[in-house]
Amino acid sequence: MSQDGSGNPARDATSVRHDGERRKVVTMSHETPASDRPLTTALAEAAAMAGHAPSVHNTQPWRWRVLPDALELHAVPDRRLTATDPDGRLLAISCGTALHHARLALAAEGWTAMVERLPNPDDAQLLARLTGFSRTGADPDAMHMVQCMQVRHTDRRPVSDEPVSTAALGQISSAVAAEGCRLQILDQDQVMELAAAAGHAATVEAEDPQLREELDYWTSRAGTGTGLPPEVLPEQPPQTTVPGRDFGRPGSLPIGPGHDRAAVYALLYGDEDERDSWLHAGEALSAAWLTATRQGVSVVPLSGVVEVERTRQTLRRLLAGLGHPYIVLRLGIADPAHAGPPHTPRLPVEQVVDTSAVRGGQG
Ligand SMILES: Cc1cc2nc3c(=O)[nH]c(=O)nc-3n(C[C@H](O)[C@H](O)[C@H](O)COP(=O)(O)O)c2cc1C
Repeated sequence: MSQDGSGNPARDATSVRHDGERRKVVTMSHETPASDRPLTTALAEAAAMAGHAPSVHNTQPWRWRVLPDALELHAVPDRRLTATDPDGRLLAISCGTALHHARLALAAEGWTAMVERLPNPDDAQLLARLTGFSRTGADPDAMHMVQCMQVRHTDRRPVSDEPVSTAALGQISSAVAAEGCRLQILDQDQVMELAAAAGHAATVEAEDPQLREELDYWTSRAGTGTGLPPEVLPEQPPQTTVPGRDFGRPGSLPIGPGHDRAAVYALLYGDEDERDSWLHAGEALSAAWLTATRQGVSVVPLSGVVEVERTRQTLRRLLAGLGHPYIVLRLGIADPAHAGPPHTPRLPVEQVVDTSAVRGGQG
């Protein structure tokens, strides 16, 4: 395992530059063929690769434990947003994105696994356990998605005027469905309702001193590998139909004059509003976002409307009782003429992957 220069978790491998992008794609070439390497090496690498996953305020509230025949995903309560996310909904969604990343990284290396979610009722922090590994052939589709993990990022600038194709929306919806959730694409009237709800949620959150303090903490974490640095936050509020999160301070990301009129807004939802369904929601969010990345579609999650009880109820109404809202997504085509934000930093692998139980056993 190693890290690339940006501090992002990565594999020891060749790096390839994506044309016109400052993103680094790390290929999966190893000196030892994947089929000859021990399982514990694959588990540790999959856990490291999951460090690329998105999380609310870039809290990365997870810790992986590599065991001789299992990989465990634990929540880290110290990195939970206690004021913003008292129920742990966004923490579980964030950890679900990491779980999906790890599952894909294992599939790319030719491993299938059984996933038990919330396997131990006496251990609330143990969110998932992967066991029962067997070797299948490396999955080329998963390999492609692993590459997408390394270029995916949140771009909060207004999107360009280019519409998102129906085919791309179909693929993104199918990826969500494959993880047991659903995606509702909002019509114009629903987008207006969403815009009003997002405005209301922003006002409620701006008026709450505890929420402001929490946001302030996670937007002033320079050098820690967590939180949101100024380079990824807009230098002024972008012109968007639905207001994005007010981070309480201007960043340094130039946003240009555009308006996101061509953006599509969608609601990711499912049948239940429980911890295991939030984990599934995170897995679906990861699947949607990586599929979108593959299609050249930019995604910005909007969770303020879910954090505030009253606006969460508005979203429920938009779903006409069909399910529980997990998160809103803005989908669009990023402006190709200007460079987007840099990668948001990540914690060093050693701080999120515990290999102490297998040290010495790894190849
Ligand atoms: C559950 C969840 C909620 C999020 N909510 C928001 C949000 O409300 N506004 C926003 O701009 N970004 C939101 N994000 C994006 C994160 O801030 C972003 O993933 C994180 O900072 C890491 O950056 P990256 O996606 O560029 O790797 C959310 C992400 C997740 C997983």
